[in-house]
Amino acid sequence: MKTIIEPFKIKTVEPIRFTSPEERSRILAEAGFNPFLIRAEDVLIDLLTDSGTSAMSAKQWAGMMEGDESYAGARSFFRFERIAKDLTGFDFIIPTHQGRAAEKILFTLLGGAGKYFPNNTHFDTTRANIEFSGAEALDFPTPAARETASPADFKGDMDIPALERCIREKGRESIPLVMVTVTNNAGGGQPVSMKNIRETKELCSRYGIPLFLDACRFAENAFFIKKREKGFGTVPVKSIVQEMFSYADGCTMSAKKDAIVNMGGFLGLNDADLASKARNILIVTEGFPTYGGLAGRDLEAMAQGLEEVLDENYLTYRIRSVEYLGEKLSRAGVPILEPPGGHAIYLDAKRFAPHIAPHHFPGQAIVCELYLAAGIRSVEIGSVMFGRKNPSTGEFVPAPMELVRLAIPRRVYTQSHIDYVVEAVLDVYSRRKQLAGLRIVSEAPLLRHFTARFESL
Ligand code: F0G
Repeated sequence: MKTIIEPFKIKTVEPIRFTSPEERSRILAEAGFNPFLIRAEDVLIDLLTDSGTSAMSAKQWAGMMEGDESYAGARSFFRFERIAKDLTGFDFIIPTHQGRAAEKILFTLLGGAGKYFPNNTHFDTTRANIEFSGAEALDFPTPAARETASPADFKGDMDIPALERCIREKGRESIPLVMVTVTNNAGGGQPVSMKNIRETKELCSRYGIPLFLDACRFAENAFFIKKREKGFGTVPVKSIVQEMFSYADGCTMSAKKDAIVNMGGFLGLNDADLASKARNILIVTEGFPTYGGLAGRDLEAMAQGLEEVLDENYLTYRIRSVEYLGEKLSRAGVPILEPPGGHAIYLDAKRFAPHIAPHHFPGQAIVCELYLAAGIRSVEIGSVMFGRKNPSTGEFVPAPMELVRLAIPRRVYTQSHIDYVVEAVLDVYSRRKQLAGLRIVSEAPLLRHFTARFESL
């Protein structure tokens, strides 16, 4: 059969609330034109994030009843640890309540003034944790990543020559580790090839620098390798995942993505000394090393999710359903970042609303209009999230790309929900010339996109 279907049936449903255009207009104004400040019950289809928003399986819910809630040495931890070790090959698996908690521990230990952390592209929390430590976060995406209209296979790749120039310039002593984010979320959910991971590792080894994966979407990345990279077509996804991790010396993981749970994460390490220091911080900030900020039931659900996500029927459906949305939009002429990513479609706001200057946030204007038109919540990944003021001149420095992310939660929405989203985007696109930019009224010093308030111009 050619039709790709959801490889599950639905046992529990949750109603979603319809609102009128007048209600939405009031709600958006009260939220300062920032969808992060809208109540979830005022959203019809929530594409804000694929993080922690997944539907768990019957087996995961059953696992939650099996959770061992002992403070120390819980059975659930050992099950989780066994499965995580089998996948990643790391000697030490340290549970945390989510990805950024693992980042916080790692960069507290390795960061600080005068240190540099290169990545294909840092996610916002990774960048924030690095900068909070006093260190600098550097992005080296492959040049193809910036050409939003060209459909290259592995636009998540690291720019290896640029990374090498950076290592030579800064010196290996000031680079405690190099990171590769799979898939490259801030760069459009684009995969990183095995070849690129292997070559990044070779370069790091030459300079004696450890390589870490930001592994949130490891299974989606592995599935793209299977489909697109020569030599992997018949290799099981699990073996591809194991090979990806085999090149790394450690990882940070937000289990809220590819472990298909609502909360969880871990830090994976091979360095015994670093692991011991990480556990000391963990005990102060997260909890004892066999639960790390989580309940035993969370560890059970996470262990189960790490196995389910490797099911190739699931991954076929997952990647196809995101591609389906992208295909419908791009066939109708809507500019999206090509090709579709693993967890989201990214509208290219620069081409969608070229009349709005970056400092008036074209992506945020589209986000607001999608909510007004159809109750859909999306997120700007552009100059609201990554734009800055030059500290010496005060001049506005825009983000390299102006994107709107439509992130698809795992196993949550059906094809007709996605058809509704297509209709809404096409409606907004047909009225794009009337979109107006915004101005920031208030903002926080770090991660301003979460709480900033805007007014429409
Ligand atoms: N790294 C990447 C690549 C991420 O996408 C995220 C989270 C994190 C780290 C941090 O993980 O949320 O568990 O602390 N991304 C979410 C998103 C929030 O919407 O893309 P966390």
